[in-house]
Amino acid sequence: MNTALVEQLKTEFSLAYDTKPSCIVKAPGRVNLIGEHTDYNDGFVLPCALDFAAYVAVTKRDDQEVHVSALDYNKESCVFHINQEIKFDLDYMWSNYIRGIFQVLIEQGYRLSGVSLMLVGDVPQGAGLSSSAALEVGVTLALSSLFNLELSSTDIALIAQKAENDFVGCQCGIMDQFASAKSERQHALLIDCRTLLATSVKLPQELSILVIHSGVQRGLVDSAYNQRRKECEQAAEYFAVPTLRDLTLDEVLTQQEQMDELIFKRAKHVVSENERVLSMVRALQTSDLKQISQLMRASHYSLDQDYEVTVEPLNILVDLIHDIIGEQGGVRMTGGGFGGCVVALCPHDMVDAVNVQIKTHYTQQSGLKATVYRCSAEQGAQVLLADF
Ligand code: GLA
Repeated sequence: MNTALVEQLKTEFSLAYDTKPSCIVKAPGRVNLIGEHTDYNDGFVLPCALDFAAYVAVTKRDDQEVHVSALDYNKESCVFHINQEIKFDLDYMWSNYIRGIFQVLIEQGYRLSGVSLMLVGDVPQGAGLSSSAALEVGVTLALSSLFNLELSSTDIALIAQKAENDFVGCQCGIMDQFASAKSERQHALLIDCRTLLATSVKLPQELSILVIHSGVQRGLVDSAYNQRRKECEQAAEYFAVPTLRDLTLDEVLTQQEQMDELIFKRAKHVVSENERVLSMVRALQTSDLKQISQLMRASHYSLDQDYEVTVEPLNILVDLIHDIIGEQGGVRMTGGGFGGCVVALCPHDMVDAVNVQIKTHYTQQSGLKATVYRCSAEQGAQVLLADF
């Protein structure tokens, strides 16, 4: 936990609002170990929450005004009213995550009043580590706690996703919000995105989680993401199934000659990736490092060749790290793609060698600078202070 940020949040909150926060919550970002672009196909994913998080401080007001302020954006602040139409704000884009949560809670009939709210966080932005999901989950948990809404962690994740889909306008799946709301320390979270059943999977103690930012900020993400979603719907339509979750790999492969090539490749990725997630759960449970290595490699290859969401710097990083880790762990791109990070599961005593390998070769091969984060799998969103 970033205690310095929490202290800063308390101090700045008191200065800005002339009162102490009555509730502070922490909601983590996430990294996905395997199961990419499967969540919106009702499939399986296996993320874990990270030690990077959004922190939200809040207190009730006597009126219907919502005052919000973001320490990470030069203490920018703005105000909206919960008894008037909540509008999308082009000037303070970060505030739309909060506006969206209020909108969804009000629509769903929850009784709220005005609040003063302040945000801070240390989830790297534009890295594909779900800084926005952390923020949405944090705001929802803070309001649930403050107004005694008794939302379960599943409710919180669903409300957060709805705000992102309907208000912010990004058609993301459920993985990020679920991982932020429900993860357990030292575990990954297997999520069945159809039934929403989430099961914790213990991570092998001999492996470190490394998240390496390629130095490529994720750009043009929404349009490419929504395009992939459409292609998956077309594939499901071709097979006359509700979603790609309902197919086996054999069923997809038999149609290779008859189908449009691009739609075939998209379906092949999603269906094979679902199988890899379930195999990965078994590999983690039995600490089968060779299998972990092969599954993560196959996932990356599939995202590169069939789903076409990697970029060259991500491929370079994956190859460089694989050269060091070999069959002692795994490495693949993580998140939506088109930049952002790779994730590696790496024996503790190889972490230094991975760092040296990246330092020695990455900039030379890509012209970019990578940032390595050594992470741990953390607990999902939690209330740090409730004083009311
Ligand atoms: C983004 C979305 C998730 C998921 C991943 C790809 O992170 O927010 O819902 O679809 O991309 O696996």
